[in-house]
Amino acid sequence: MLNVALFGPPGCGKGTQAELLCQHFRLLHLSTGELLRAERREASELGRRVDAIMKEGELVPDDIVGELVRKEVRRALNENLGVLFDGYPRNLSQLEALESLLGELETEIHCYVSLEISDEKVIGRLTSRRTCSDCGKVYNLIWHKPRRDDTCDNCSGELYQRSDDRPEAIARRLEEYHGQTSPIMDELNTRSVLHHVSAERSIAEIQDDLVDILEARKATIGQG
Ligand code: AP5
Repeated sequence: MLNVALFGPPGCGKGTQAELLCQHFRLLHLSTGELLRAERREASELGRRVDAIMKEGELVPDDIVGELVRKEVRRALNENLGVLFDGYPRNLSQLEALESLLGELETEIHCYVSLEISDEKVIGRLTSRRTCSDCGKVYNLIWHKPRRDDTCDNCSGELYQRSDDRPEAIARRLEEYHGQTSPIMDELNTRSVLHHVSAERSIAEIQDDLVDILEARKATIGQG
């Protein structure tokens, strides 16, 4: 079983790469952003509590996100699946909470990867991102165009722009990333366990590097 944590600023392509990796390695895709958006779509009590925070591009409190993660990790273990963490952990306390949870469950993160990209490129990618309101498929009006600007190629669902892809919310998300998430990179660099991958290339090139890194790590699991 392989557990992977994928880091990177908003819009670096974590979700895009995670989907492909989860198919390739048969992993559960645990995206805290997607779990929170699902709560908002259902207008659950939790969804209503986090709505304004997410629209502004701020981080949701650790206890809320931690509870969602605990449930999903247990589900993955019951199904004998490794987990790909996309967007979690996002600060040092979340890193500590995750490592402690996995320790209790007698497992660990086997591979930490950071996708690296400039803020300028992130802004370009996020302002042109569109998502299908029915199947959730992600497009980009410049780099990964749907056949028609407002319609999903997969299911003909309507494409929408995420409420946190407005310029002010993107700026806040980048601030949160540099302030809260970057210290995790420093910590993992100190431990010499973080892989760095340039995300300023094509989806396929990035994917090839990620598959190589994960294959290499997978081959060493269980070899002490
Ligand atoms: P979340 O959903 O995790 O958002 P994010 O980290 O800001 O990441 P994104 O989903 O915006 O981007 P991505 O890196 O997945 O890029 P994508 O593949 O879509 O979190 C949203 C919010 O939830 C947070 O702001 C916070 O409020 C809350 N939250 C979530 N987790 C939390 C936590 N742990 N703690 C507290 N709060 C939390 O790609 C972007 C675009 O670029 C797409 O259009 C895509 O088609 C295109 N693209 C992808 N790759 C390439 C490429 N190589 N070349 C050109 N275009 C590309």
